[in-house]
Amino acid sequence: MRHSLCILAILVSAGAMAQTPRDFLTRFEKEAAAPAVAERGGRFFDATHGNDWSCSTCHTTRPTQPGRHAKTDKTIAPLAPAANAERFTSPAKVDKWFRRNCNDVVGRECSAQEKADLLAWLLTLK
Ligand code: HEC
Repeated sequence: MRHSLCILAILVSAGAMAQTPRDFLTRFEKEAAAPAVAERGGRFFDATHGNDWSCSTCHTTRPTQPGRHAKTDKTIAPLAPAANAERFTSPAKVDKWFRRNCNDVVGRECSAQEKADLLAWLLTLK
């Protein structure tokens, strides 16, 4: 009994530390103070926003597939968490690349609502 409680405590504390795509979605929805709309995220992903590139230019319209960088031609691992377990597990990576890619595509940082929508859509992909 004491032993299983101890294991439970370890599991609970490990769970609190690990960042999952769901944790990021909760964070962005909280920052936006509104629920995510996955369908809107999908439209945002495929659309251009006044510049040459959309998110799908490098990540493809089906981001369970590997992408290709529009400038360097380097292969990009799939962006959808269902196809790539490393996605949306590191706050440093998520924040850095959202900032950089939104600046390239939209010409500004994405809002919390846009990030919530985008991630909710990525999570619908199987
Ligand atoms: C010019 C090419 C390019 C475009 C356009 C682009 N990305 Fe990316 N994206 C990358 C590269 C390169 C990486 C980093 C390499 C990697 O993680 O595989 C990356 C990584 C990411 C990550 C990091 C995810 C993680 O946890 O590893 C997110 C989130 C992301 N992109 C979202 C977007 C969104 C949203 C858009 C549209 C607003 C977008 N990207 C447009 C090239 C691009």
